[in-house]
Amino acid sequence: MHKDILKIVFTEEQIQKKVKELAKKISNDYKDKQLTVVSVLKGGIPFLSDLIKNINLKLSIDFMAASSYKNTESSGIVRLIMDLRESPENKNLLIIEDIVDTGLTLNYLCENLRTRKPESLKICTLLDKSSQRIMKIKIDYFGFKVPNKFVVGYGMDYNELYRNLPYIGILKPEVYRQQTIE
Ligand code: IMP
Ligand code: MG
Repeated sequence: MHKDILKIVFTEEQIQKKVKELAKKISNDYKDKQLTVVSVLKGGIPFLSDLIKNINLKLSIDFMAASSYKNTESSGIVRLIMDLRESPENKNLLIIEDIVDTGLTLNYLCENLRTRKPESLKICTLLDKSSQRIMKIKIDYFGFKVPNKFVVGYGMDYNELYRNLPYIGILKPEVYRQQTIE
C-alpha cells in the first residue's frame, strides 16, 4: 500500500470484478448497436481503459474535459476545456466518469451534448457520491456508492497525484496538512 494511504476503500480485485460486471451489462444493453464512449479527462481514464477491454460491441472512443470551481465563490461554474474530436450527432454516447459528486460537471456536459442531437446519451460512473448531489441527473450505470469522503486512486487525484493507484483509498490526514504548510 502507498505510504500516504490511510485505508483502502475498494481493492483492485473488487474494482476489476465490478468493471467486468458493468461491461457485461453494457454489452447486453447495446447489443447490435454501435457505441461511442466519451471519457471525461483525466479521472475517467483508468476506468475507461479497463471497461472497454471487456465490452463486446463495435465501439469508438472520444474525450472531453471540463473544469469546475468548487469551494469558491464561483461555485457551480463549469467550463469546457476540451471538446470531442468527432461529431456526436446520431451516435449512441456513453459518458464514462470516475465519480459523480455534486453532479454539476455531468449536468453541464450532458446539456452540452444533448444540443448536438446524439441518438442516445447515457452515463456510466464508477463511484456515486449521492449524498453530495446538487443537480438531479440520471445515472444509468454505477459501480459503487461511496459516502461523503474524499477518495483517491484509480483515476482520482488529490493535487493531481495518486491517479495511478490500482485501488481506491483515503489519504492520511497529514498529507493534507503537509500540502497546506508547503
Ligand atoms: P461534480 O461536478 O461535483 O459531480 O464533480 C465531479 C468531479 O469532481 C469528479 O469527476 C472528480 O474529478 C472530482 N471529485 C469529486 N469527488 C472526488 C473525490 O472524492 N476524490 C477525487 N476527485 C473527486
Ligand atoms: Mg472527473
